[in-house]
Amino acid sequence: MSSQFDIIHKDAAGRIGKLTTPHGVIETPTVMPVINPNIQTVKASEMRSFGAQVLITNSYIIYRKDELREKALKDGLHALLDFDGPIMTDSGSFQLSVYGDVEVTNEEIIEFQQKIGTDIGVPLDIPTPPDVTRERAEEELKITIERLKAARELVKDGMLLAGPVQGSTYNDLREECARTLSEMKFDVYPFGAVVPLMESYRYSDLVDVIASAKKGLDPTAPVHLFGAGHPMMFALAVALGCDLFDSAAYALYAKDRRYITARGTYHVDNLRYLPCSCPICMSHTAEELKKAHNCTELLAKHNLYVTFEEVREVKQAIWGGNLLELVEQRCRSHPRMLEALKTLSNYSEWLEQCDPASKSTLFYCGPESAKRPEVLRFSKHVENFTIQGSALIRAYPTKRDNEYENVLIFKAPFGTYPQELAEVYPLNAEVVKTPDSESLEVAYLNTIKLVELNPDAQFTFLMQGRFEHPLVEKLEALPNVGIVLAHNY
Ligand code: GUN
Ligand code: ZN
Repeated sequence: MSSQFDIIHKDAAGRIGKLTTPHGVIETPTVMPVINPNIQTVKASEMRSFGAQVLITNSYIIYRKDELREKALKDGLHALLDFDGPIMTDSGSFQLSVYGDVEVTNEEIIEFQQKIGTDIGVPLDIPTPPDVTRERAEEELKITIERLKAARELVKDGMLLAGPVQGSTYNDLREECARTLSEMKFDVYPFGAVVPLMESYRYSDLVDVIASAKKGLDPTAPVHLFGAGHPMMFALAVALGCDLFDSAAYALYAKDRRYITARGTYHVDNLRYLPCSCPICMSHTAEELKKAHNCTELLAKHNLYVTFEEVREVKQAIWGGNLLELVEQRCRSHPRMLEALKTLSNYSEWLEQCDPASKSTLFYCGPESAKRPEVLRFSKHVENFTIQGSALIRAYPTKRDNEYENVLIFKAPFGTYPQELAEVYPLNAEVVKTPDSESLEVAYLNTIKLVELNPDAQFTFLMQGRFEHPLVEKLEALPNVGIVLAHNY
């Protein structure tokens, strides 16, 4: 098969990758602007100027309309859209989910996509919505898998083939589906039917869907989050291992007079200022934008600029090893995103396995940072410390204190460790001077573990007032610990 996905840099479960297609290489993560072959709010031929590398359109819309179908069959998809880079086509599944029926079979639409020269084709999967009965989810999944299997047998070379992962909001079905498709070897794995979750701000459920499907996939396989186009959630989805997004949002929001930013969306009529430096915003005042005869087009262009700005922000964060800091910031844009961030911490164990062992300094951004995979990794490492004799635990490194055989550092959210490790990643983290109770809890649990694992050592904890926490009592109750208040020392 012609598919190829090379991962060149990683952070958390996110990665920068290169996906090779018949019309060139795509550097991921990236967004595919959705092109409606009937109405192009922004022309496909202009899309590169916003940062787009790859487009997505709907083969079913082309197939249904004589004029479009004839031209696509005669001149090819790339001539039809006037774009010579990679183009992905969807199959009509979305129409199936909206209208309940489509006038094409799986085999016909696959064959059509091949004939018009699509780079990445999609079979006619069934986008089973969230919260349906288990019976319905299983039944539809069975049909989806049969169709994907048929498609996999039809497509032998040339076009890359996507295998959409379905399973509604049943995490086990998502995982199982992903595992089955993995064995069938698709070139891209879209996670389907997540639009209803995003439309109703169910980002926490979205995290569960993504994490479950990812668990069933080969970690090196490229993943597309179907229908996700709001830049506010790119960082989160990328950190969970999504590589491709598609955005109709830039045009749909523009039609509704909505102005996208990475922090959320404004109605243009509520804008007094334009908080963006794109060419549209720099050449218009808010008043001019509202009144412009081509307001929809201007908004669509602004929306594209900010969408790709966020793509670059996310890529740089992967490169710089601070993607999770960006995730924590973006998740503060909306309370439902903050819930999703908490759900993300349920997957720290898995993220820890994906995360590079060393990167740039960790920045403590809030109570959720106490659940970061780096902190979890340290917690597991505590059992490797062997301490013998007397040990002083204090907040700052000092020159070796002759009174004690060991000097250990207490630093939330990590815990207690030999001071020689103070500059080692991730213990060199930038943290707050007055730790919150979430990070103190982790730090004390790890300290208690260390003390219990070294019963022959005698620990003296030089306790700062700002380290007060209910767990101090539990620490103090251990036979080989003495607590000295810092001001008495
Ligand atoms: N577009 C948005 N969601 C889906 C999906 O689940 N399947 C397909 N084929 N297209 C989509
Ligand atoms: Zn702008």
